[in-house]
Amino acid sequence: SDQVLSITPNTQEEVEVLKNVSTQYETNLWQPVSSDHIEAETPVHLYVPANSSEAVMDLLQKHGMTHVLLANADELIEMQMRNDSTDPRSGSTFYQKYHPLEVIYSWINRTTHDYSSTVKAILVGSSYEKRPLYALKLSLNNRPNKKAMWIDCGIHAREWISPAFCLSFVHHALSFYNQNREITDILDSMDIYVLPVLNPDGYKHTWTKNRLWRKNRSLRRGTNCVGVDLNRNFDASWGQGASHDPCSEIFCGSFPESEPETQAVADFLRSHKDSIQLYITIHSYSQKLLFPFSYITDEPENLSDLLEMAKGAADNIRKYYLNHYAYGSGGKALLAPGGSDDWAYNLGIKYSFTFELQDRGRYGFLLPESQIDRACKEALTGVKTIALNVIEK
Ligand SMILES: *[C@@H]1O[C@H](CO)[C@@H](O)[C@H](O)[C@H]1NC(C)=O
Ligand SMILES: *[C@@H]1O[C@H](CO)[C@@H](O)[C@H](O)[C@H]1NC(C)=O
Ligand SMILES: *[C@@H]1O[C@H](CO)[C@@H](O)[C@H](O)[C@H]1NC(C)=O
Ligand SMILES: *[C@@H]1O[C@H](CO)[C@@H](O)[C@H](O)[C@H]1NC(C)=O
Ligand SMILES: *[C@@H]1O[C@H](CO)[C@@H](O)[C@H](O)[C@H]1NC(C)=O
Ligand SMILES: *[C@@H]1O[C@H](CO)[C@@H](O)[C@H](O)[C@H]1NC(C)=O
Ligand SMILES: [Zn+2]
Repeated sequence: SDQVLSITPNTQEEVEVLKNVSTQYETNLWQPVSSDHIEAETPVHLYVPANSSEAVMDLLQKHGMTHVLLANADELIEMQMRNDSTDPRSGSTFYQKYHPLEVIYSWINRTTHDYSSTVKAILVGSSYEKRPLYALKLSLNNRPNKKAMWIDCGIHAREWISPAFCLSFVHHALSFYNQNREITDILDSMDIYVLPVLNPDGYKHTWTKNRLWRKNRSLRRGTNCVGVDLNRNFDASWGQGASHDPCSEIFCGSFPESEPETQAVADFLRSHKDSIQLYITIHSYSQKLLFPFSYITDEPENLSDLLEMAKGAADNIRKYYLNHYAYGSGGKALLAPGGSDDWAYNLGIKYSFTFELQDRGRYGFLLPESQIDRACKEALTGVKTIALNVIEK
């Protein structure tokens, strides 16, 4: 069956072997994000489809390299795509499941109808394949000069826990306003914009064609390779150190904001930059809270504010959920140009964070539905901690 392996190269030769395996065989690299970043002593997570398995195993064995089996991927994928309306015994709620794109669109529609006085769907743009990009605006009062925060999910298609978080967040905010003190305080002082699926074409593709697709689905002349990494397509030191190869998982596109999805979000944020004080983008996996910069190793101005907020969030996650999140400037771990958090920061949104949700590799992108609830609750704690901190500033 399809498998996910964890392999730690110990020598430079073993690094080369893994680079070869991940580029020359039909595999899907989960960690690091691109084979250029494979390094000695750092675990590599590699998805190996059944028909490459024998060749890959042979090669590893030939070089005396050992691996740890993380997951039987077939089974996990099947479980996630199960049509649960046919299994009434499952007992889990809507927010404890993954949903196809169409279901998310109808959820958006239903939410705006059910909460018509407080929630509006704003059409911020459309995708390459002409699907609408809706951001929900949660606004509980009309105070003058009201501030706002923005959360986007699903920029990388295969990170299914991300849209699940956005849905769960909106549900929490609307259901517990006036019951939970923190969300009440936040909504009393801020409007909240939530874009549940930034990359709908990619998300659709992961449900119908390739569960592990990352990029968008745009086509370009002169290559058979499809898609841009939308999180390398923002205008933050764009292109320097990203991949210009359309076949790469981290292809940055032909110019900054070449992708309609990126451009729609960038336009919206530009036109609301005076009110939006906090930008949060939700990814998986690795359990990290990152802040600028990711494209250079320089520290941002007011590093101490960002550090304090990220630490507060990580501390609360540990306190309430006994789970560990690392935090820090993104560039300290991996230099990545063109990211949305750096771009938002440079635009003037001084509180800008990337959340990498559960887990740390046991299931990776195939996090089972049984883990959704915990993963979303701990991230919610982190988001609320940071938002309350921003309000106090
Ligand atoms: C990697 O692949 C290249 C090209 O096929 C080959 O020349 C090289 O020997 C391989 N390296 C290792 C360590 O297997
Ligand atoms: C491996 O399987 C995939 C999907 O089942 C198929 O698209 C691909 O062509 C196969 N590759 C080889 C080398 O058989
Ligand atoms: C799930 O199953 C129900 C009942 O069999 C069917 O009406 C619905 O279209 C299915 N949904 C999906 C996404 O396959
Ligand atoms: C939204 O829901 C309303 C009824 O609640 C329905 O009439 C309308 O067609 C729906 N729109 C979309 C785009 O699904
Ligand atoms: C993503 O989609 C947009 C719109 O289709 C397209 O212009 C862009 O080239 C795509 N990006 C990539 C990397 O394919
Ligand atoms: C840093 O914080 C100080 C004090 O809070 C503030 O005056 C200044 O504008 C901040 N700078 C940036 C870049 O956010
Ligand atoms: Zn991501």
